[in-house]
Amino acid sequence: MTRIAMTVDGTHYEDEVEPRLLLVHYLRDRLGLTGTPVGCDTTNCGACTVDLDGASVKSCSVLAVQADGSEVTTIQGLASDAEWHPLQTAFHQQHAVQCGYCTPGMIMAARDLLKENPDPSPDEIRHGLEGNLCRCTGYQNIVRAVLAAAAEERRRRAPAPGAQTETAPVASEDTAPAAPRAPARAGQEAPV
Ligand code: FES
Ligand code: FES
Repeated sequence: MTRIAMTVDGTHYEDEVEPRLLLVHYLRDRLGLTGTPVGCDTTNCGACTVDLDGASVKSCSVLAVQADGSEVTTIQGLASDAEWHPLQTAFHQQHAVQCGYCTPGMIMAARDLLKENPDPSPDEIRHGLEGNLCRCTGYQNIVRAVLAAAAEERRRRAPAPGAQTETAPVASEDTAPAAPRAPARAGQEAPV
């Protein structure tokens, strides 16, 4: 047995595990985070995708001991109490879910894609998600959902209409304190 520690969805865990235990089984069977499914036994489907230290990985292709000391985010860590992640909302609104088996992995992979490319084309989305298989939807609505989530994230980042960018306050000549002036030396301009 090997002792490991990691933070998953904001909670710190310490455990003794078999060195051969896969991360996905650690998440599901030890931590009870069954939102991350296992969809194959060939590391092909991507259903088990999670974020490991800022990059999306197939958690069936990583040993739990390899994630020792890491920060893991699963699909269960995306929503806050108050609202869903924009990708979760978009998958719901664009009917990008049928059986739902691929959805956690699709969303985690799409989240990683949008971090790299906040304004992807449909082709870039298809290319970015090519490691994730969906057996139901035909992918069209998944692409639409990622486009919608990308637009929503850009909208949230954009400054509100009428908002001014922060600038240093401008002092009037009457109120501005006189700036100390260094004496100019020959060959050197005085500071402005
Ligand atoms: Fe991990 Fe299929 S369960 S890739
Ligand atoms: Fe069923 Fe994608 S919705 S596998």
